[in-house]
Amino acid sequence: MALPGIFSGSKKKRDQILAIDLGTRTTKAVVMQRRGDVYVLSRYVLLDAPIFDKAMPPELLTEHLKAVSQAIESKARVVSLTTNVNDAIMRHIDIPRMPLDDMRLILKHNSRAYLQQDLQNYVFDCHLLPESAGDASKPTSAVQKQKVLIVGSKSQFVSEMVEGVKSAGMVAGHILPGMIGPVNAFELSEPQAFSNEVVALIDIGFKSSTICILQHGELVLSRVVNMGGDRLTSAIIDSMEISYAEAEGIKVGMAGEVQGALESILTPLGRELRASIDFFEHQADRAVSCAYLTGGSTRSEFVVQGLQQELMIEAKTWNPTSALKLELPPQQAGEIEQVAPQLAVAIGAGIAAL
Ligand SMILES: Nc1ncnc2c1ncn2[C@@H]1O[C@H](COP(=O)(O)OP(=O)(O)OP(=O)(O)O)[C@@H](O)[C@H]1O
Ligand SMILES: [Mg+2]
Repeated sequence: MALPGIFSGSKKKRDQILAIDLGTRTTKAVVMQRRGDVYVLSRYVLLDAPIFDKAMPPELLTEHLKAVSQAIESKARVVSLTTNVNDAIMRHIDIPRMPLDDMRLILKHNSRAYLQQDLQNYVFDCHLLPESAGDASKPTSAVQKQKVLIVGSKSQFVSEMVEGVKSAGMVAGHILPGMIGPVNAFELSEPQAFSNEVVALIDIGFKSSTICILQHGELVLSRVVNMGGDRLTSAIIDSMEISYAEAEGIKVGMAGEVQGALESILTPLGRELRASIDFFEHQADRAVSCAYLTGGSTRSEFVVQGLQQELMIEAKTWNPTSALKLELPPQQAGEIEQVAPQLAVAIGAGIAAL
């Protein structure tokens, strides 16, 4: 399926791609290739994300991309990039039936009518969602409407990104909202659950976390919750009056020692995520069977268990590399299992471009 990106440098599929998840705290990059039906993962790297105020200046992006390319030791020149939740919008809307090109134009010129927001100078892409069985039984209205997934971003943001990539000596193949990454990766890794079940894909990020609900292979709901790994670390700082680095070390190495502080964040975070599940279940009259977790924080068993308690359904991490052919250098091969939940967004960005 590979959901839509905001920008597509060319429709041509590439043989090899450098996919980069520009996370708020950590940049995750992977080099992937496609050989027939097989996706190959040949390298990955995790780097500290650049620090900037509001928007990443193109020069900083260029510098960072050069650092990523060097660290990952790859000659791949075409990149697939993800944006964080602040730089892209993602919505599900009902819109009268029309060709997709017309839809993009209508949204560009009259975003308020369909998105309840004036989004001037944006670029959009649209993806038709099939009518669910429940909707099909509803009486048809005079104007036939269709369900559409919209992704969009400021034109200036997209062109600055493309420019920043070019200055680093690379070509921007795709730009897509980070939230789409796990969906693409999940389809490949867990095809049965993807096609046959109703599941929640939850990514615990740095400042925020995201939830996407998939119903039999279709993305039917996506939400952002403004809490992530940074709040977990901050809660430890507040309880112990130590530095950020010390609190981070305790969180990663001795979570059990700071149980109370972590729970003070995991409880409201889990509740907010559960509220999105409740909203969907109430509207669609269907139950979500399982929550599949990704993001750096879910490398901690303590975090996974804490979330599971609030979500009140089975919650587990999954391996976005499980359906990939791994051709990693020996050291990376030894560590991939641990890192995998943090790579879902980058892998999904790679799949979208291959
Ligand atoms: N083993 C671990 N245990 C607990 N937390 C961890 C572990 N490893 C990483 N983290 C946390 O994961 C967070 C970073 O996760 P991630 O890389 O998924 O965020 P990001 O992609 O940069 O952010 P965003 O998705 O919000 O843009 C940090 O807060 C870090 O402390
Ligand atoms: Mg992230």
